[in-house]
This record gives sequence, C-alpha cells and structure tokens, in this order.
Amino acid sequence: MTYSFPHRHLLDTDILSRTDVEAILSLAARYALQNRSPEKKIDKFRGKTSVNLFFENSTRTRTSFEIAAKRLGMDVVNIPVAYSSTAKGETLLDTALTLNAMQIDTLVIRHAEDGAPQSLIPHIDAHVINAGDGKHAHPTQALLDALTILRHKGKLDGLNVAICGDVARSRVARSNIHLLNKFGANIRVIAPEYFLSPDYKEMGVELCDSLEKGIKDSDAVIMLRIQHEREGLGCSFSEKAQDYIAAYGLDHAKMKAAKPDAIVLHPGPVNRGVELTNELADDPHYSVIREQVEMGVAVRMAVIDLLLSA
Ligand code: NCD
Repeated sequence: MTYSFPHRHLLDTDILSRTDVEAILSLAARYALQNRSPEKKIDKFRGKTSVNLFFENSTRTRTSFEIAAKRLGMDVVNIPVAYSSTAKGETLLDTALTLNAMQIDTLVIRHAEDGAPQSLIPHIDAHVINAGDGKHAHPTQALLDALTILRHKGKLDGLNVAICGDVARSRVARSNIHLLNKFGANIRVIAPEYFLSPDYKEMGVELCDSLEKGIKDSDAVIMLRIQHEREGLGCSFSEKAQDYIAAYGLDHAKMKAAKPDAIVLHPGPVNRGVELTNELADDPHYSVIREQVEMGVAVRMAVIDLLLSA
C-alpha cells in the first residue's frame, strides 16, 4: 500500500503517528542531501504561495520556513506584524481570513497564545503550520531535533534523551516528548522546581532535579532557553541566575556523566553562559546546534511537501 500523509495541518507532534514521523524524516533526509547539492531548488510547488505570519520574534524558524518554501518553488510572503493591520487592532482571525481570501496555500503561524493556530482551522482553506504557539507546541522543531539525533545515533528507539531547562514554559520540550515517546525513548526532564509544571508528570517522562544525575548515560541532551518573555515563573529569575547556572548550566565537566559520544542540542537562540558555556556550544565534538539549523530547512520542506501533496 502506498503511504499518503493523512493530515491537512501540522499543529503538534502528538497527532502524528510513528509512520507519519518516519515519512517526514525520510523525505527530509532526501531534502537535506538536495540542500547540499548545487541544484537546491525544485519546481514542485511553483505557483503556490506560503505566508509567514509571526507574532513573536524569530530568526531561524521564520527564515527556515521561507527558504524551505522557496526551495520547493513556492512564492513566499512575510507579514511584518508590527506594521500590519494587527497594529490597528485587527483580530488574528480577521488577519487570517484576509490572507486566506488571497488564495494562499500554506499559512505558517507563530503566536504567543497556546492554541492560536488551531483556532484558525475551521475558518480558512490554507494548510496551517504551527511555528510555535505560546508554551504549547513547536512541531517542526521537534522533527528537526529528531532528524539531527537520528543522523548521529542511527535510530530513535530506546535512546536516552535528557531535556533540561525552562521546561514549564517550553513548547519545544512538549513537542519533543510527544515525538520521542512514539519511539520508546527514555526521556529525562531536568529542571529545578520553579521551571517544572504539573503536566510533565503525565507525559511518561522521568523528572529529575539534578543535571549530573539526569544526563547520566544520555545519548542526546537537549538544552532549553530560559523564556524571559513569557509569564508564569511566579518569581524573579535574575535573583536565581547564578545558582541556576551553577546547577543547570551545561559545561564540559558535567557532560562527562553522559555517554562519551553524546550530542548536545539547543533550539536557539542560546543564552551563552547560561544554558551552555561558550566552549561547549562551539565544540563540534558535542554540539550539533548548526546541524539542527540545517535540518530545519529540510524538515520544513518535507512538511510542506507532504501537506500539499496529500
Ligand atoms: C524556540 C522557540 O521559539 O520556541 N526557538 C526556535 O524556534 N528556534 C525556542 C526558544 O525560543 O527558546
């Protein structure tokens, strides 16, 4: 039987089956090769239009979606939200309906509110791709993390993966956990009490408040940025910063607890000297941060391709 991608939109990794994830990653692996060849661009979706509607700051995700769509032959429009009618008080739904009326094919949206991309689906025809909504989900980040891990470890099944940092406010952690759980990875979530939230207890992960213990025997360590822009910490981080860095900042010495061939991931942007030392962030023996960015383009090409081809 030939496989056909069964989803119209990509809102999170929880709705993807293991087969869907494998389909995305295997197509992305092919696009990753193409992206390193002189002929990076194909005509497959010529005449289709993708719109990037980002209500939160972004460098890599927005650019990556733009490059991905262009490599597939699409036309891409970026909405500068600060200069758009949003600044005149237009609602998200009205903005989306306006774009939809222009016969766009994909709407890539990032928004500070959990569930914002989902709320548009009953109203618009374009395929909606969630590029990060509040603390909820960031599916393409989890997919690009999975592809990066797969390239280094040859599998996802049964790997020991540690996720450390501001997990309470992290959409990256949640989407990664949903995805890695489909492959039976052993996931340890490492955070101090003030960076944890109760929903992690129901996510089939082990919770740990010590970085050294948490990364013991890890194959991959995903470090997360402290989400200063988000509410919900209930206390001031600046007073805790020095203690946090001492306990949860990752450096070469702490990495000794992980497997010798463990890799270190970070979705970026990195707060250098907080989540990771400069030396570790730039050490090609451990750090795959640049490769994550490279895989981001390939994964987004695969996601757009599967959505538009279904
Ligand atoms: C992440 C995001 O925006 O959720 N970054 C990204 O997409 N590369 C993580 C973060 O901002 O910390």
